[in-house]
Amino acid sequence: MAAPDGAPQKTFLVFGGTGQTGQHFVRQALGQGHRVRALARNPDKFAFAHADLEVIRGSITEHPDLDALLGGVDFVVSMLGDAEAQRERRINDGFVRQLVPAMRRQGVSRFLYQAGGLSAPPDRALSPVLRLVRSTVARGYDGQHRDNEAVMRYLTEDAADIEWMVHRAGIGSDGPSKGVLRRSQKAISIATFQDCAAYNLRTVMDADAVHTCDVSSYRAPGPRGASAG
Ligand SMILES: NC(=O)c1ccc[n+]([C@@H]2O[C@H](COP(=O)([O-])OP(=O)(O)OC[C@H]3O[C@@H](n4cnc5c(N)ncnc54)[C@H](OP(=O)(O)O)[C@@H]3O)[C@@H](O)[C@H]2O)c1
Repeated sequence: MAAPDGAPQKTFLVFGGTGQTGQHFVRQALGQGHRVRALARNPDKFAFAHADLEVIRGSITEHPDLDALLGGVDFVVSMLGDAEAQRERRINDGFVRQLVPAMRRQGVSRFLYQAGGLSAPPDRALSPVLRLVRSTVARGYDGQHRDNEAVMRYLTEDAADIEWMVHRAGIGSDGPSKGVLRRSQKAISIATFQDCAAYNLRTVMDADAVHTCDVSSYRAPGPRGASAG
C-alpha cells in the first residue's frame, strides 16, 4: 500500500506518543499515510482515533511484550521522558537495553531516540555555555540527561549492528512551526515540538543519519557542510 504522496506506507512503533513531541509525531505520521502502533500508559491521551493508529496500553517499566509490539514494524521511535522518575532511575536506559535485543530477534533495525541538546554525546563534552544552562536553569532535568547519556553510550558501545540515531533536541515551546530543522553537529536551535516531530519523522527514514547523536538547527548548512554527516 502507498501513502497519499505515493511513498510506500510504513509502520512506526512509537514510545512516548502521548507526550509533547510524540502527539505531533503520531499525527504527522498518520497524516503522511503511515501506520502507527503506540505503547501508552494512558491511551485516552490520544484525543483522536484513526484507522491506522493502534494503541496498546502499557508501561516501559512493566515489561511490555516487545516482540509482539515489533511485529511488522519498519521504524521504532522513542520520545520517552519522565523527568521525576529519571531523577532516581535510568528508566530509558533500562528500557532500551530490552528493546534492542527484541529488535534483533524481530529483524527490526532502524531506531530513533530523542534526547536533549543538553545531553552530551559519548564522544564530546558539552560547550561551556550548555554546561552552564544544564547546571542552572535546567538542573531539574539532570536525571533525564544522565539517562539519555547512558542510552547513547549503550547504543554506541553495544548496538553497532542496529541502525540507531539520536536526536539531541532543543525545544522551547509548543508554538507554530518556525521552519525546517536540519541535522547539525554543533548549531542547535530552540525549536517547537511540531518541528522536532517533523525532524524525527524525516530523520528516522534517512540512512545518512545512522549512528549519529546530532542536534538540530533551522540554519541552512554552511558551505563546508555544517550539517553533520
Ligand atoms: N520537553 C522539552 O523541552 C525537551 C527539550 C529537549 C529534549 N527533550 C527530550 O525529548 C524527550 C521527550 O520530551 P517531551 O517533552 O516530548 O516528552 P513528554 O511530554 O514529557 O512526554 C513523555 C512521554 O513519555 C511517556 N512515558 C514516560 N514514562 C513512560 C512509561 N513508564 N511507559 C510508557 N510511556 C512513558 C509519557 O507517557 P504519559 O503520557 O503516560 O506520561 C509521554 O508520552 C525527553 O525525554 C527529553 O529527553 C525534551
